[in-house]
Amino acid sequence: MELLDGQLASRAIKDALAIQVAQLKTEGKKVPHLAAVLVGNNGASETYVGAKVKACAEIGYKSTLLRLESDISENRLLNIIEELNDDPDVDGILVQLPLPKHISDEKVINAIHPSKDVDGFHPENVGRMVQGLPTFVPATPYGIMLLLEHYKIDTRGKHAIVVGRSNIVGRPMSILLSGNTNPGNCTVTICHSHTHNLKELCLQGDIIVAALGKPEFVTASMVKKGAVIIDVGITRVPDASKKSGFALKGDVNFKEVAPLASYITPVPGGVGPMTIAALMKNTFRACKERNDS
Ligand code: GUN
Repeated sequence: MELLDGQLASRAIKDALAIQVAQLKTEGKKVPHLAAVLVGNNGASETYVGAKVKACAEIGYKSTLLRLESDISENRLLNIIEELNDDPDVDGILVQLPLPKHISDEKVINAIHPSKDVDGFHPENVGRMVQGLPTFVPATPYGIMLLLEHYKIDTRGKHAIVVGRSNIVGRPMSILLSGNTNPGNCTVTICHSHTHNLKELCLQGDIIVAALGKPEFVTASMVKKGAVIIDVGITRVPDASKKSGFALKGDVNFKEVAPLASYITPVPGGVGPMTIAALMKNTFRACKERNDS
């Protein structure tokens, strides 16, 4: 078993971006600027947005964090997005999800200009991804593709089982793995809460991507020997022995599954850092396209 070390792979990507940013600076050009919007005070969202802003600083990007009250009106948030769309200094906009219940995710995502949609959630960008056209690919599945690439995992013709069908991970992941690309060219089965025989399907998987948000759901009895295991889950589970009061658990029972796997991502330190690296790549691209055209 070999660990798919997201810290290591993301470091390589961020270092390469930092060199490109330094080059922009020496040429007197604008550096990428990411605007992150955080509504309310969800602990996990605070951590994720904090990590994104920190990565910007490490690489040499500019970032702006807009912290908004949880009771902000939908209209006010849409106006703020409009202002960011119109701000020529801002290259990328991300609104951290989930949003409070009184705000429509769909309206907010649709309000972000597609050229600044570094999360790749806007329907125009999703459509481009489905057609295999150049676009912003959602950061978590993009990060997983970069991780597979970094470790030169042979995916061609393999049967990939994607567990979970969210717009953020499962669906785009299934599209990317089935694409005529490298990594890619998998035969993909996408599973969800209504899937019959989930265990039997998982047992057929040469690659399993677990993205359902249920701690330690994938157990040894569901995994074929030699499978590649990608664990997207990162749930906070109460744990009195930790200073924070919680432990982070993946969707895979790592202890049980690791001995069977050829490659497996740890949690934390697997997919999470790759998501950030992918977002940084998207932000660089947004800046380049804005300023080269
Ligand atoms: N919430 C969980 N994952 C993501 C993500 O990739 N982007 C945003 N904006 N919110 C998220």
